Amino acid sequence: MKNFIVFEGIDGSGKGTQLKMLEEYLKRTNQPAVFTREPGGGKISEEIRGVIKDKENASMTDICELLLFEAARNQHLHDTILNNPNKLVICDRFTDSSLAYQGYGRGIDIDVVSKLNSIATEGISPVCTVFLDVPASIGENRNSRLIDKLDRIEMAGNTFMEKVYIGYKNIIKDNPSRFLVVDGTQNPDKVFDQILSGLKQIGIIK
Ligand code: TYD
Repeated sequence: MKNFIVFEGIDGSGKGTQLKMLEEYLKRTNQPAVFTREPGGGKISEEIRGVIKDKENASMTDICELLLFEAARNQHLHDTILNNPNKLVICDRFTDSSLAYQGYGRGIDIDVVSKLNSIATEGISPVCTVFLDVPASIGENRNSRLIDKLDRIEMAGNTFMEKVYIGYKNIIKDNPSRFLVVDGTQNPDKVFDQILSGLKQIGIIK
């Protein structure tokens, strides 16, 4: 879908900061855009997000978690992503998060996750996925400053995030043309400049 951009990265990769900078840039340059997120991006999907992230739900199985992400995704597709054909739709996380976290991280069969991704998205995919490349050790350090605020998934620890990071690297290797990979360890202004010039080069934004 040519108006659909996704941001991906491990926890603590700085997506939030970059998405805010992009939102301000698009406002300033009068380019209509909707910013959304997964899990979430609509009433039902936000409710599912609450269930997924609830620390009380420590007994949630990996398959339950995966199916909740996919359920939220299909609802989000119809509530938000497909509803804004004349705007840029910019989404914080999408199918690659399920592959990286539930597939590579939790160890669920990658083919199973891929199949569920394609059911949930009904074949819709982003024209570009921006990957903020921050290794697990650095993301973890950024997160440990906020230790009290960690949710159920972020509490899964460092080896888990290591696997997620390696997962992303594999996904990028398998889909090189869809990805814009930016070194997220640089200072935020430099990261943003590279995101902007990459997106301009592809012709998605002005
Ligand atoms: P969030 O607070 O939005 O984290 P972040 O700012 O890092 O995006 O929480 C989303 C969490 O859910 C994050 O730890 C990644 C995880 N996640 C999955 O495990 N699978 C998925 O399919 C998605 C969309 C997110």
